[in-house]
Amino acid sequence: MLSNGFLGYPTTFMLDFVVCALALIVPVLLWSLWLVKFRRRYVAHKRLQIALGIVLLLAVTAFEVDVQIAHGGWEKIVAKQQLSPVALTAKIGSVRPWLLVHLVFAVTTPFLWIVTITLALRRFKNPPAPGTHSRLHKALGWASTIDITLTSVTGLLFYYVAFVKS
Ligand code: HEM
Repeated sequence: MLSNGFLGYPTTFMLDFVVCALALIVPVLLWSLWLVKFRRRYVAHKRLQIALGIVLLLAVTAFEVDVQIAHGGWEKIVAKQQLSPVALTAKIGSVRPWLLVHLVFAVTTPFLWIVTITLALRRFKNPPAPGTHSRLHKALGWASTIDITLTSVTGLLFYYVAFVKS
């Protein structure tokens, strides 16, 4: 069952699952930022950000195990499209640059999120409220927001060019 996707394309269950998680994370993040910036709901923001961080970490770990170990790499999943050997090689070559751009954001995002969450937990009071850490946290928070948004957009674009577009 886990060797097939559920979005209607020749992919895998985990690939489709991560694509859905990537599409959902940005609206949830915007909601969390609206809560903290306009409603001053600091505790709700803290809980949402920690939950998002955990979901992201679990989804990405499960995804990597599935793609690398269970399926032997993304190229093997592209091969499910049953193209001719020449067309398959051409497709892999043409979509690889999209993946490399995605990886720039996908690799930096977890580090930025871990630093942002760890410092926030250590330096804000409990329950959290604006304080001496606010300035640095806002800078880290906006950088983390932009990084995960670009991870999401480039991830969805890669999914489209590699698995949807014929
Ligand atoms: C990766 C996780 C997180 C991200 C991306 C994030 C993002 C942000 C951003 C962008 C702001 C500034 C909004 C504005 O411009 O007014 C903000 C504010 C705030 N965040 Fe986070 N946050 C994260 C985790 C946390 C955690 C874990 C806590 C609590 C322990 C926290 C507590 C706060 C507080 C108290 C403020 C208000 C600061 C102020 O207005 O002076 N955040 N967050």
